[in-house]
Amino acid sequence: MKTKQIPPGSFGIPILGETLAFLFDRDFIKKRYRKYGSIFKTHLIGRPTVVMVGPKAVDFVLSSHMDYFSWREGWPNNFKILLGESLFLQDGEEHRKNRRLMMPALHGAALANYVSTMEDITCTYLKKWENKQEFTWHKEFKQLTFDIASQLLLGTSPGDECVRLSQLFTNLTNGLFAINTLPLPFTQYGKAIAARNKILEHLTKVVRERQQNPTKDTLSLLIQAKDEEGNSLSEKELIAQAVLLLFAGHETTTSMLTWLCAELARHPEVMQRAREEQLQLASKSNLNLEQLGQMPYLDQILLEIERLHQPVGGGFRGVIKDFEFDGFHVLAGWQLLYSILMTHKLEEIYPEPERFDPERFNPQRQEHKQYPFSLIGFGGGSRLCIGIAFAKMEMKIIAAHLLRSYYWEILPNQSLETVYFPSNRPQDGLRVRFQIR
Ligand code: HEM
Repeated sequence: MKTKQIPPGSFGIPILGETLAFLFDRDFIKKRYRKYGSIFKTHLIGRPTVVMVGPKAVDFVLSSHMDYFSWREGWPNNFKILLGESLFLQDGEEHRKNRRLMMPALHGAALANYVSTMEDITCTYLKKWENKQEFTWHKEFKQLTFDIASQLLLGTSPGDECVRLSQLFTNLTNGLFAINTLPLPFTQYGKAIAARNKILEHLTKVVRERQQNPTKDTLSLLIQAKDEEGNSLSEKELIAQAVLLLFAGHETTTSMLTWLCAELARHPEVMQRAREEQLQLASKSNLNLEQLGQMPYLDQILLEIERLHQPVGGGFRGVIKDFEFDGFHVLAGWQLLYSILMTHKLEEIYPEPERFDPERFNPQRQEHKQYPFSLIGFGGGSRLCIGIAFAKMEMKIIAAHLLRSYYWEILPNQSLETVYFPSNRPQDGLRVRFQIR
């Protein structure tokens, strides 16, 4: 009988495997993809791991064979402890119930109600930046997107409470990929655990307040949500989902906004065309929900930022049933990582993949439509990012205001090299000079 062939690759050194190279070598997946192809083995964060790349592989993981994979068994232990029992770590019926209850609060009519708050908070920051004139944009976007997330998702009032929560989330995020998991007060991981405890304490208080006096935020909608069988979210579920929404709802958007502003400054012809699109709309009326749907060029630019600077490099899963892919056999119990980063850099889909070119997505070229699962910055299939509409709306509101009223340029003597962990950003955070038009 023919023995089943496991994927090519290396498990690296005992215990650590190839974890350090994965965290610190920006070309970790690219090198191995070139050597082995769209499926290879490695050893990450204490587990044998199979990495899968390309639309066919991603379709297999996210859609056609998704019941071979578990989210809960996939994410590293740090995620489980720090992010708790939230949507990210749920599978099967439990996930379906929670997702169904959460969807309305992040789509349709609920989303339309968020426009004016997003705009008001954005305008406060624009005024602040006007006065500052020079600043580091990644840090500023992080505060702005956190303010938007905590005010809209939790109903937090602007001010000191937002700043304190934002700092706690930074500490929590720093612990997600920490290798030393000793929970001591001075380790990154220990600080992340302490931050999580304080966040939970705060959220328990907020959930109880909103249960008494619901407001218009996402959390209040979640408290009131009931599905057709009368199910609702328990207090424990509400708190866990709130932690996840706050976490997932600002780091990623910050990353895309920072790269958006960097690429616009590096490509004046793109900036000019995007500005013309906005000025045309501005000549008709103030920004509104309808206008957000009439910005095809800004849409193209955002798709290119999602492709070239994907905030999430890939998704982890636990393999729960043996499977075959491209003639290779993978055993239940392994960890799987589908690579967003490398799928977006495949030359056969995106010629000159390292080049920033929003024309890839013009109506004639539509490079991402050649194969399903070619553009997966927000994941895909039935577990597509639940915040995609929220994030896109927020980024368009901020971009529209910037393009309509401001100029900016990148200050010299800084590195714009990509750093991936704990989140994708230019190394020095994008220091800019900013002024009103
Ligand atoms: C630019 C912004 C964003 C990007 C690039 C992004 C990316 C992603 C990706 C790639 C996934 C799937 C991960 C996987 O397959 O393992 C995901 C899932 C998720 N995202 Fe986002 N996200 C963004 C914004 C948001 C926002 C604003 C929220 C909440 C308000 C959010 C909440 C979530 C949640 C809860 C999930 C899990 C969904 C499920 O399992 O059903 N994300 N996101």
